[in-house]
Amino acid sequence: MGRAYLIVSGKGGTGKTTVSTSLALALARMGRQVLLFDGDVGLRCCDLLMGMEDLIVYDAGDVLEWRCTLEEAATPHPQCQTLRLLSAPQMASPGDMSKKAIASLIAEARQSYDDILIDCPAGIGRGLKNVWQAADEAILVATPDDASLRAAERVSSLLFERRQLHAGLILNRVDRFLIGVKEEKRPGDIAAALDLPLIGGIPESYDVYRGILMHKTALECDAANVRRAVTRIARRLAGQNVRFPRFYHVIAPPTNS
Ligand SMILES: Nc1ncnc2c1ncn2[C@@H]1O[C@H](COP(=O)(O)OP(=O)(O)OP(=O)(O)O)[C@@H](O)[C@H]1O
Ligand SMILES: [Mg+2]
Repeated sequence: MGRAYLIVSGKGGTGKTTVSTSLALALARMGRQVLLFDGDVGLRCCDLLMGMEDLIVYDAGDVLEWRCTLEEAATPHPQCQTLRLLSAPQMASPGDMSKKAIASLIAEARQSYDDILIDCPAGIGRGLKNVWQAADEAILVATPDDASLRAAERVSSLLFERRQLHAGLILNRVDRFLIGVKEEKRPGDIAAALDLPLIGGIPESYDVYRGILMHKTALECDAANVRRAVTRIARRLAGQNVRFPRFYHVIAPPTNS
């Protein structure tokens, strides 16, 4: 039985889609069967970020309306056959999709996939509420600034209060230089302050944006430190005990959530 993860944030633009696409590819390259579900109904972009925009024939809306099977809509990644992308409908709004139908779609996906990553829209709107009952846990993606962290804290509390979902934290755009000059907090300290297990961090890098321009995920970008960081996160999610860089200042043993 596969596990379904919500990739969520409080603030928008923290890097959910960057994390979802690259993490899905990293997990699939480890030989796991991975379904990336673009849950950003009406604003989908995983297909673009993975260079798959010309390959999508059916989307999740077609599955929910019985026009095709999940197998037909889950489009294989051109370079990694163990990764499939289920796109969100482009011409729909979150209100058009029923929670029950999405839950049964995810339940079906659990039979064939090890990991189901659901790239959610930002915040606690209808888009998230449509999918949250179908998930086993949440991955909060935040940047290390206070506005993003406060919003992340709010979302993690709500996920727990309303759905009893535990969240792990991925800090995106971690800047080692700013940590060194004490302008940015250390990832371990941030996770401890939020009382969330740290799944990992991804460095701030111009190459992530350059990758997006070329429709490549962060796992395929030119920055080796970004590629390493994503791979480490994938290994932790797969249950491996992977050490954090020393400057993260993670005191507790890593939690494989
Ligand atoms: N580690 C990083 N270093 C530099 N830029 C990054 C990094 N991660 C993401 N970005 C940039 O931040 C922008 C937003 O990223 P992304 O689309 O993944 O965020 P999002 O949380 O999915 O946004 P939304 O809330 O709109 O869905 C993109 O332009 C991306 O290139
Ligand atoms: Mg996004």
